[in-house]
Amino acid sequence: MSGSAVSVTTMDSSLDEELEGLSAAGRRRRLRRIDKKEGSIVWIDGRRLISFGSNDYLGLSQHARMIAAASLSILDWGSGSTGSRLTTGNLCPHEELEAAIAAFKHTQSAVAFTSGYAANVGAIQALAGEEDLILSDSLNHASLIDGCRLSRATVRVYSHNDTGHVRDLLNDRSNFRRLLMITDGVFSMDGDLARLPDLADLADECDGWLMVDDAHGTGVYGESGSGTVEHFGLLGRVPIQMGTLSKACGSVGGFVAGSRSLVELLKNKARSFIYSTALPPAVVESARMSLEIIASSPSLRARLHHNVKRLRTGLNILAIDAAAGDSPIIPVIYGSEMAAISISKQLEEAGFWIPAIRPPTVPPGTSRLRITVSADHTDDQIDALLKVLGEIDKSVSSK
Ligand SMILES: Cc1ncc(COP(=O)(O)O)c(C=O)c1O
Repeated sequence: MSGSAVSVTTMDSSLDEELEGLSAAGRRRRLRRIDKKEGSIVWIDGRRLISFGSNDYLGLSQHARMIAAASLSILDWGSGSTGSRLTTGNLCPHEELEAAIAAFKHTQSAVAFTSGYAANVGAIQALAGEEDLILSDSLNHASLIDGCRLSRATVRVYSHNDTGHVRDLLNDRSNFRRLLMITDGVFSMDGDLARLPDLADLADECDGWLMVDDAHGTGVYGESGSGTVEHFGLLGRVPIQMGTLSKACGSVGGFVAGSRSLVELLKNKARSFIYSTALPPAVVESARMSLEIIASSPSLRARLHHNVKRLRTGLNILAIDAAAGDSPIIPVIYGSEMAAISISKQLEEAGFWIPAIRPPTVPPGTSRLRITVSADHTDDQIDALLKVLGEIDKSVSSK
């Protein structure tokens, strides 16, 4: 046996041991292959399931106008962008998309990244360094946490949505150059909204910069659908608005919207922007189309909120303990990993697909179903889910 074969075997047995540890803890992840998809219906392992787990809140991922925009763009531009934005990859569609994002978010300017993850790690790393202080909500998304780590700033994590705690952590603010306050707009696994008005006041008071990750608010909240900043009447008061094109927008990509100076600085310093190939033009064109659809079709948002209300009201009637609120993300917490997996399996047997969410995505002991609602769902589908959830809940409580 050659030396390298021996080391591969050693590597694999070490990795297998780690994987077995994950399995034993109920934390091993497994990819499920979707063979076909039509709106909220997916086909997995030969079975037709109704999905209540995607982030396609407005059902735009298969919208005819999105498909047409992407198809036409591929004919004009081909499949790839061929380079980083700063080399050969800065195409007309990218600049048009950024202008559309800025208009949609009511900001001077915007910059697109290849994903929301890339936007967060790039923006935070570019804006904060060793001399700076970052305050970050304990339930912030992993991409924000990773951006904080990358920045090498002093990072203080405050208890979820606890603005009193934020204030406590600011007592030595003057020892730092910049202060960044970072929060999800809609918390991705809990579906509650950040206390943006209080955070904006605190940021003003302490000369801080508020950054809102509105991955799940964009297209869902606000009069024009621009997100939680608009929803809370804070347009002009949140200098760093991050968002994704991958959830309600039904495409892929991330962005930061704000002042011209902010965007110019990010284009110069965000490493995930500089050292990565630009988004493919077909994706860019579908994303731009999504903003057009969101702005011109308030009825889609109204349908989404109708569906959210129907499902939330039904859960209340069944006395199923789901977090209060009005967002399309509805967590039902079961506690252990095994319990959440078992409920998810029972739902699958009954024709519904809602993946179990476990640590490290959520804190230990809070494994859950993360039920998400889309404008694509029909009343009948929602009622059918409620019926099955009610039956499962009864059998869990009687054990
Ligand atoms: C709050 C939040 N921020 C950022 C991201 C990353 O966005 P993307 O999936 O576009 O990379 C996600 C995605 O799960 C998210 O939930």
